[in-house]
Amino acid sequence: MRHPQVSRAFVLALVLTIIAATAALAEAQAASSPGVLRLATTTSTADSGLLQAILPAFEKLCACRVDVIAVGSGQALAIGRRGDADALLVHSYKAEVQFVADRHATQRHDVMYNDFVIVGPQADPAKIGGKTSARDAFASLAAAQAPFASRGDKSGTHTAELAIWAAAKVAPSGAWYRSLGQGMGETLILANEQRAYALTDRGTWLSMREKLANLRILVGGGSLAENHDSNLRNRYGVMAVNPETHPGVNVGVARKFVEWILSLETQRAVGEYGVKRFGQPLFYPDSDEWKATREVTVKVGANARTFTIADLQALPRETLTNYGPVGVKVGLVGPHSWSGVPLEELLQRTDPTVGETRHAGSRIRLTSSDGWTATLWWSELFGRVPRGAALYNVKGCNECHGVDGEGTAPSGKRPAPALARRTFALGRVTTILRAGRDAHAGINPYTEAHVSAADLQSMLSWLQKPTLTIRGDAYQAPPGRQAVLLAFERDGRPITGREGLLQLVVGPDEFAGRYSHWVKTVELVR
Ligand code: HEC
Repeated sequence: MRHPQVSRAFVLALVLTIIAATAALAEAQAASSPGVLRLATTTSTADSGLLQAILPAFEKLCACRVDVIAVGSGQALAIGRRGDADALLVHSYKAEVQFVADRHATQRHDVMYNDFVIVGPQADPAKIGGKTSARDAFASLAAAQAPFASRGDKSGTHTAELAIWAAAKVAPSGAWYRSLGQGMGETLILANEQRAYALTDRGTWLSMREKLANLRILVGGGSLAENHDSNLRNRYGVMAVNPETHPGVNVGVARKFVEWILSLETQRAVGEYGVKRFGQPLFYPDSDEWKATREVTVKVGANARTFTIADLQALPRETLTNYGPVGVKVGLVGPHSWSGVPLEELLQRTDPTVGETRHAGSRIRLTSSDGWTATLWWSELFGRVPRGAALYNVKGCNECHGVDGEGTAPSGKRPAPALARRTFALGRVTTILRAGRDAHAGINPYTEAHVSAADLQSMLSWLQKPTLTIRGDAYQAPPGRQAVLLAFERDGRPITGREGLLQLVVGPDEFAGRYSHWVKTVELVR
């Protein structure tokens, strides 16, 4: 592979060629050749040193050379749209989804993530240090007209920056806002010289920190776990360019690359990169294959049992048919059937006394390999719960707002405010839920069919006094949807994480918002 500096020169040459030279010359420069993978990627994967660390293993495996074109994500996607790259490794989620919709690739895969942080001058004249929301911090920067160095290059980071300004309802302009049209490294160096604020991915920051003595992290904390704003998460995706749309691409090597970067071994290398030098990973592995669990451990008191996927398949199964739509996760809209093992069955096989009423106050906590948790009450499986409580769970509110409406810890994957013991006007909540998107944590709108006005009223009343004592109506799951499954098949096919199997918790209702992939442990807790 090329050294990042060399690849920059290459990019410049490529860009200049395309802009200035004849079409013929551009074609000659960009044409694919069998022994070469043209990888268009973001500056952060190169500037952080990641590619240099992991690509030699791929070059050996494929007996090929990787030409890295390290530019902003927007530019990398544009190169892909012209068929001038074979594979893309970028971080601009919405634009990637559009890239697939426009048939420039057939699939996008999660590869890894890290987070963005807001850095700024040591003295922090705009006083944003310690703020937990990027939106609030940006609003303060605009109010103070504090110097801000923007990438200004349509990169993934620039796109994320613009989204934060939009959320803060600021249209940044004026002398304080410096749009540079530069990569991450150059932008940080300029911010350091000019004592300006900037948005950066943490990986590039960590790898360059020694050269940036005038700056420090002001929003985002010392590590990903301390970052309180879920909007600062930075996801990277990989795509092979579609040979049907672009017959000139080197599809064989591109597919090999995608498979390789998603594989367990490469994912491990991604997660280990930088740990020795920086005391923390620069990127966190995130491929389905990495997260897929191959067994699940069930714990009830002192009893614990581990079930492999084969064990699960040998148990009596149940199927929920025509189940959907799933509104929260992109890509799963539409009815599906799910097959798996009822959760009661697994708990009972672990401890036959689990159904006794002395466990009545307990909860069942499910943990996924990627940090998601889902919690059910024992009484949901083995007894009855108040209608408002059940609906709150069944509609998936508990995933983010906590099982008792207590809110989720800031370090959770999707931090959300507490709702319990608060009074909300039904009208306002209805507006938030029906609007969805920007009004509600980026999630899809809950329509009347998902959560009726009566359901909402029932949830809100319960949230004011969240107990499991049944006063009035108890919840009755609709017939045919009463199972809570650990599912291993969707529409009759294994829910694959390429090699392993994913598992899913399905709530007993038409809105399967309450589920969790890659379940690793199921535990009865007090
Ligand atoms: C994917 C996570 C997620 C799910 C699922 C979810 N919420 Fe939210 N919700 C949030 C976040 C995050 C906020 C804060 C939004 C913000 O500040 O922009 C929020 C805000 C709210 C608010 C406003 C709270 C306040 O302090 O003003 C209400 C009310 C609410 N949600 C109700 C619900 C209900 C009811 C459900 C289920 C039908 C639900 N939410 C499902 C994440 C979620």
